[in-house]
Amino acid sequence: MTAILFVCLGNICRSPLAEGVFRHRAEQAGVGDRFIVDSAGCGGWHAGEPPDRRSVLTAERHGVSIHDQVARQVTRADFDRFDLILGLDRDNVRSLLNTAPPGSRARVALYLGEALGQQKDVPDPYYGGMKDFEAVYALCETASDALIKTLAST
Ligand code: 4NP
Repeated sequence: MTAILFVCLGNICRSPLAEGVFRHRAEQAGVGDRFIVDSAGCGGWHAGEPPDRRSVLTAERHGVSIHDQVARQVTRADFDRFDLILGLDRDNVRSLLNTAPPGSRARVALYLGEALGQQKDVPDPYYGGMKDFEAVYALCETASDALIKTLAST
């Protein structure tokens, strides 16, 4: 069993998609029971809120339901609950490394770095349009499939 936490800034746009798409693709691949997945934000401004409606709509267009997720901020305990904590961009990774209690269990890494070996950010779509949310979705699909392939074979 591998526990993965996906982390962006607000936990309302990118990481809810990363969580929902990963869960959906893992289930489709028949390995859903091998993973525990969750998402959180570096900041807590949107804690308690559902994902941004543009993320919800984008996921729905692809047959993925994320509307029942609830935003929350990363906690120190997360670093012992998860095996892998993936920041959606490099700012998120920096912030996670600053928060990580010394000696904790989780490995912190960049999402697209871990999935695809590309040291690239998933761009923040918050001030963008639906096209930007579709682009996030497409990145999450490619990244999820690569992560699932690697992690399910170990
Ligand atoms: P996310 O997007 O990090 O992908 O959830 C954002 C959501 C909210 C804000 C920034 C980015 N904000 O500034 O409130």
